Amino acid sequence: MSNDILEVKNLIKRFGGLTAIDDVSFTVKQGECLGIIGPNGAGKTTLFSLISGFLKPDSGSIYFKGKEITGLSPHKLVSMGLTRTFQLIKVFSNLTVRENLCIPGMAHSKDYEGVAEEVARKIHLEDYLDTQAKNLSHGDLKKLSIGIALATEPDLILLDEPFAGLNPEEIVDLDKIIDEMKKDGVTQIIIEHRLKELFNLADRVIVLNFGKTIFEGSPEEVVRDIRVIEAYLGKKGETNA
Ligand SMILES: Nc1ncnc2c1ncn2[C@@H]1O[C@H](COP(=O)(O)OP(=O)(O)OP(=O)(O)O)[C@@H](O)[C@H]1O
Ligand SMILES: [Mg+2]
Repeated sequence: MSNDILEVKNLIKRFGGLTAIDDVSFTVKQGECLGIIGPNGAGKTTLFSLISGFLKPDSGSIYFKGKEITGLSPHKLVSMGLTRTFQLIKVFSNLTVRENLCIPGMAHSKDYEGVAEEVARKIHLEDYLDTQAKNLSHGDLKKLSIGIALATEPDLILLDEPFAGLNPEEIVDLDKIIDEMKKDGVTQIIIEHRLKELFNLADRVIVLNFGKTIFEGSPEEVVRDIRVIEAYLGKKGETNA
C-alpha cells in the first residue's frame, strides 16, 4: 500500500484569464515535511485553498488518505484530519487563548478543555491560557493561529508563511514548535519565503512559478538549480537563503 497521505493530480485553477494553478501534480508522504516556495503571486496560497477546500479547482483531483476529496468543504476536510493556517492571522481577539483553542470545531476529541491545554503547551503559550488574544505579541498571535489549527487534531497541516514577520528569537521558538509537531506525527506542507528557516525543516521542496511546478527536490538541490535561481532573480521576494 502507498504511504502517501496526499496526492494532487493535474490541478488547474483559473481566475478569469489568469491560470493561477496550471496542471500541478505532487504527492506527500505520511510524516513528511514538504516545503513550497516561489515568487510572490506564483500560486502558493491558491494551491493551499484548493487542497483545504476553500476554493474548487476547474479540473484535476485531490486524494487524502486514499480517498478523493476534490471539492469537499473545509469543515468536512477538518473532520477528516486536514487543516490549514492563513497567511494573515485569524484569531478571535476578544477571546482568551483557551477560548480560541476551544472554539473552532474540535474534530476528534470530546475533551475540548484538555485539548486546549495540551495544544497551549505545544505552542508554548501555556502561561497565557487566560490572556485575551488582543493582548498577545505578534509572535504569540502567530503561534495561536497555528494552535487553532492543531486543536482540530490534524494528520496533515498546511502552514502558510508561518515565519513571516517574526523576529529572530520568535523564529527559533516557532522552529522548535514545528519540529516537535512533526515528531508527534503530523504531516506538514509549509509555504515560506524565509528559505533558511524552511530548508532547516523541509525534507523536500517544490518550487512554483506562474502556477507551474518548475522544480522538486531536496533543499540542497533547490539552491543549486538554475531555473529556481532565475525564478527568484526575475522577481523580488523576501528571500534570505
Ligand atoms: N480570489 C482571487 N481572484 C482573482 N485572482 C486571484 C485570487 N486569488 C489569487 N489571485 C491571483 O492568483 C495569483 C496567485 O496568487 P497567490 O495568492 O496564490 O500567490 P502566492 O504564491 O501565495 O503569493 P505570495 O507569495 O505573495 O503570498 C496572483 O496573480 C493573484 O493575484
Ligand atoms: Mg500567498
